[in-house]
Amino acid sequence: MDDLRDKYIDLIARAEDEAALEDLRVQAVGKKGQISLQMRELGKMTPEERQVAGPKLNALKDEINAALSAKKAALSDAALDARLKTEWLDVTLPARPQRQGSIHPISQVTEEVSAIFADMGFSVAEGPQIESDWYNFDALNIPSHHPARAEMDTFYTHRDEGDNRPPHVLRTHTSPVQIRSMQAQGAPIRVIAPGRVYRADYDQTHTPMFHQIEGLAIDRDISMANLKWCLEEFAAAFFEVDHIEVRFRASHFPFTEPSAEIDFRCSWEGGTLKLGEGDDWLEAGGSGMVHPKVLEAAGVDPNEWQGFAFGLGIDRLAMLKYGIPDLRAFFESDLRWLKHYGFAALDVPTLHGGLSR
Ligand code: PHE
Repeated sequence: MDDLRDKYIDLIARAEDEAALEDLRVQAVGKKGQISLQMRELGKMTPEERQVAGPKLNALKDEINAALSAKKAALSDAALDARLKTEWLDVTLPARPQRQGSIHPISQVTEEVSAIFADMGFSVAEGPQIESDWYNFDALNIPSHHPARAEMDTFYTHRDEGDNRPPHVLRTHTSPVQIRSMQAQGAPIRVIAPGRVYRADYDQTHTPMFHQIEGLAIDRDISMANLKWCLEEFAAAFFEVDHIEVRFRASHFPFTEPSAEIDFRCSWEGGTLKLGEGDDWLEAGGSGMVHPKVLEAAGVDPNEWQGFAFGLGIDRLAMLKYGIPDLRAFFESDLRWLKHYGFAALDVPTLHGGLSR
């Protein structure tokens, strides 16, 4: 018995992993292990012999079991130590250099515009960039034969052969969000919807993806006068001047009636743009009173409700405010450009804190 004991205590001490330990357990105290076999021998002994050998064998079994579990605990401690050694982190290393990245001017301007309209009681709404042609066109009073569909240089998605449903489109403007938010909220409603829009066009002032911000205000007695006031408030706050005159130029959009192009008074004297003074006008976007058919399509009763909508180009606003000459550079992901025109991450625009640096 002493030999058995010495043998297993030694083997257990030298086991290198849990699998080896398990093999030893089976060999020693498993059902057919050496110690179990010895216990079976007890039956052949005289009662006197059994009284001596029985307790000894039991004590041996206990001792080996205890050695097995102590070794098992030691092995898993060692495994944990080894893992911790590979996962250490030197908290005394110097911090990474500041301002590796920056906030893109489009993001910054979107935040600025949102802050200004939020202050006037507009909340922010969103819609999908891949849009059904119903939301992008039909619901906005642009039926399938309408020339506006062709004018917009629409990107169409692909349908399988034999699938005759109209294809989805990459939204050509943020106006479908008018429909989606009226459907979701009904009237009265006051929302703005900034986001990406797409048209197949590319030159110094056009990129196939660009950004708009849609505005929508529906109530019982909203008029073009309210629209003009909102746009003037917006322009003055955005360009950080006391007052900017807004001019409406008669225009046509299928989803507004009457419709007006939005111009801001400005001057280009000496090649620099000044807003709010001078004899020039800056085109900023389209607007008008929401067409009754559009209200109807969105489930809002045009006999009870009316209001305005507008769409402004975010990219253009960013170029004008921050003096960025080429639109295409916005989307080239050149870090040097971003470092020059970008904003610090904590430079969050608020009306009270100042919109820009
Ligand atoms: N959706 C129009 C465009 O992209 C702009 C617009 C919006 C005009 C809302 C009127 C009202 O050109």
